[in-house]
Amino acid sequence: MKPIYRILLMAALWGCCAGVFAQEKPQPLSDSLYRSLAATPPMGWNSWNKFGCNVSEKLILEMAEAMAASGMADAGYEYIVIDDCWQVDRDADGNIVPDPERFPSGMKYLADQIHQLGLKFGVYSCAGSYTCQGRPGSKGHQFQDALQYAKWGVDYLKYDWCSNDGQNARAAYQTMSEAIKASGRPIVLSICEWGENKPWEWGEGIGHLWRVTPDIRACYDCVFDWGGVGVLQCIDADAELYPFAGPGHWNDAEMLEVGNGELSWDESVTHFSMWCMLAAPLMSGNDLREMDYKTLQILTNKEVIAVNQDPLGRQAIRFMDMGDREIWAKPLADGEIAVCFMNRGRDEWKLDYNWRDQTMYFARDVNFRKWNYSVRDLWQHKVIGNTKDRLKAVIPAHGVLMVRLAKES
Ligand code: GLA
Repeated sequence: MKPIYRILLMAALWGCCAGVFAQEKPQPLSDSLYRSLAATPPMGWNSWNKFGCNVSEKLILEMAEAMAASGMADAGYEYIVIDDCWQVDRDADGNIVPDPERFPSGMKYLADQIHQLGLKFGVYSCAGSYTCQGRPGSKGHQFQDALQYAKWGVDYLKYDWCSNDGQNARAAYQTMSEAIKASGRPIVLSICEWGENKPWEWGEGIGHLWRVTPDIRACYDCVFDWGGVGVLQCIDADAELYPFAGPGHWNDAEMLEVGNGELSWDESVTHFSMWCMLAAPLMSGNDLREMDYKTLQILTNKEVIAVNQDPLGRQAIRFMDMGDREIWAKPLADGEIAVCFMNRGRDEWKLDYNWRDQTMYFARDVNFRKWNYSVRDLWQHKVIGNTKDRLKAVIPAHGVLMVRLAKES
């Protein structure tokens, strides 16, 4: 072949290959874009608390449809996350294989259906070699998996810590974080190592939320032999971690059990109110297809959710601890303040509270002697008083009174 033709042929081949590679190689996500995800605590639904390993395409689609139709989406819930057990194997090239019987149309189809409903799609994996249910984990396959998730259209990854083979937690989560950025898709990374390696100290910028507790169970005050805990235990584990929460990086007090198990109305209201005070992610974990009216009322209380989603992103502080009686406060972006009186005890709390005796040292410009604030009950949806007067109320056992204070002009 004449040299000129050889050069032309080489140029054509190069152009062709470059085109193919350009198509294959995703544009990496910038660090600043990655960090900007989850500006407010993520809200969604996760399959684990109610369904465990019993997940399928049918179930997930029904749940997505229920989220869209029930008022949950309208209240701000957006992620539909399949927890453990969707994956069964790796193929000869090491690609993760979803259960073909339970997910017959594949994950891309599922993601597309969920996106068509205006929702976002999440999956679960594990930094170890196996997930907590013994399915293939992502160790050694992080970049391959992240690329695969991106191709499917995944928006959220819950990343667990079973079978971790003694890895360094920070490094393990950093690897998946880099893999997500390299995939080019904005995927929220939920660090799920149960608070064992103090993820609040290193998680910002690596992931967007980190579990600070063992697994929750649908009970108010309980600790199981295998490590499961109740609502109060989750609150206490999160209580002192307020300096670490903020836009893009949240303490995860565990998924919600509202609508599951034996939690009473007051306990469920406490559970939800306190997760909102703590700026904790709100991942519902009940069957959205058959919610009773009360469950829906709790999960979609927009005034309480507004406290959770407040753009300032401050986590509440327990500023008065009187044994079974606690007072929590969360400064909000507009200068207002959310206050939650929480009764842990078995007797009702006859509250008779003098605002003027209190200094909220952590909230700038809050002075009950200098200014008056209206006191709005976020569960009754009405103003119940003013900080110039004493606040009198009866708070049931295991219940709360959650109010929002607005300065009067
Ligand atoms: C761990 C996690 C749970 C759940 C299960 C699934 O226990 O903490 O939230 O994801 O694994 O196996």
